[in-house]
Amino acid sequence: MSTQLRYLQSYSAVVQGYLAAYPEDEAMAWAVGGGLETFERFGVLEHSLLRMFGLRDDSRVVDVGCGASRLARQLARCPDMRYFGIDVVKELLDYTRRKVTRPDFAFQLVAGNTIPVADAQADFVTFFSVFTHLLHEESYAYLEQTRRVLAPGGRVVFSFLEFANASHWAVFDGNVDWVRKRSYLGHINVFMHQEDLRLWAQRLGFEVVAMAAGDAPSVRVTERTATGAVPAGEYALGQSYCVLEKPRAG
Ligand SMILES: C[S@@+](CC[C@H](N)C(=O)[O-])C[C@H]1O[C@@H](n2cnc3c(N)ncnc32)[C@H](O)[C@@H]1O
Repeated sequence: MSTQLRYLQSYSAVVQGYLAAYPEDEAMAWAVGGGLETFERFGVLEHSLLRMFGLRDDSRVVDVGCGASRLARQLARCPDMRYFGIDVVKELLDYTRRKVTRPDFAFQLVAGNTIPVADAQADFVTFFSVFTHLLHEESYAYLEQTRRVLAPGGRVVFSFLEFANASHWAVFDGNVDWVRKRSYLGHINVFMHQEDLRLWAQRLGFEVVAMAAGDAPSVRVTERTATGAVPAGEYALGQSYCVLEKPRAG
């Protein structure tokens, strides 16, 4: 069991660790963060956030780092939704394929940092709690790919951790503890800053549509996106989020 700071490889190791310790559903829920208690809620909030920023019933969604299908399960409720999920961890994808039985939803194991989609074929690209685990350079490379695969007017939605958000410091403190001890399995959590993201957007040719702090109750769950366990209302996502748009012209 490695306790070194690593990125891509460490995620696989973390998933294996959870699978050894818990029954499968619980292991997969912990592997994507938060456990079973928050699994459905996070999926509903992801779906609701996309709706707030223009997701239609028949949108083409590319979900990078789709994990254990928190978002896919919610989008599968929409019969005309077009969905492609990619991830680097085989166990998560195998699990997701068993849980999301929509034959028209596609999932693919990838090596990371490229998006196997032709140019201008996506309306939304999502990275929920993914850039949190990548080097900045990897996230930037993913955003370059995202710009390529988005149709003009298409949007990327991603969540991130930031020092400006008081509740995110607990994650950072956990990282520091891990670095000090290296005595347990963990994976890195990378922080980003809103002003830096604006510079990235400018350099990458995106327009900034929205950025919001994770602790603000800014996600509106509507009757359409609500479930029995997650009623309509205003919720905080937890992680901060950013929405960028590929300009329609240029
Ligand atoms: C915290 S989980 C979030 C999963 C999912 N997006 C969700 O919200 O439930 C992070 C996910 O990112 C995936 N991941 C890590 N590195 C990746 C990379 N380079 N490319 C794509 N996915 C990656 C992990 O395997 C994991 O499924």
